[in-house]
Amino acid sequence: MHELILSNDILITSKTDLKGNILYCNQAFLQYAEYDENHVLFKPHNIIRHKDMPRSVFKLLWGHIAHGKEVFAFVKNLTKKGNFYWVFANFTSNYDRNNNIIGYYSVRRKPNPKAIHMISNLYNEILMIEQQQGVAKAKEVLLAKVADRGFEFNEFMLKLQKDGDVK
Ligand SMILES: Cc1cc2nc3c(=O)[nH]c(=O)nc-3n(C[C@H](O)[C@H](O)[C@H](O)COP(=O)(O)O)c2cc1C
Repeated sequence: MHELILSNDILITSKTDLKGNILYCNQAFLQYAEYDENHVLFKPHNIIRHKDMPRSVFKLLWGHIAHGKEVFAFVKNLTKKGNFYWVFANFTSNYDRNNNIIGYYSVRRKPNPKAIHMISNLYNEILMIEQQQGVAKAKEVLLAKVADRGFEFNEFMLKLQKDGDVK
């Protein structure tokens, strides 16, 4: 079980329906997730969910995009072979011509390697709180930790990607 590191210039994309079923993914998605296209199309996106990822991060993600607000986050993903890879991801909503949300889109790039230490410590801490006190409490603590540093969630994630640390 080893870590796959994204190339500097690679963009991993996927498109989902309203429930998070994969409708489209690019070649880089398949390459890093170590899947064939027919194994992922129309499957729920949690097919690549890694157990180290806190549920509260995904809850926060859905809370944003379901209201048409983009969100940025570091995500650790699981590959078909049991390997893993970190990404820095942007999630957005797709609209029809009447402004109804009809699906979602994600673009992922190589995360700042310096950020991984901090984010995995943070996620581990949040995961522990989830196991002991539940997802709602963990999400509250996550947002409080970000706010204590003077940031909103997206600002925090963007700063971590840019600088590798948040003082
Ligand atoms: C556009 C889009 C992209 C997503 N990308 C990922 C991803 O790369 N990895 C992941 O674990 N979950 C991703 N998710 C979230 C999953 O849909 C799901 O909420 C998450 O894996 C948690 O699984 P669970 O809801 O079964 O707990 C994505 C969701 C959307 C809408």
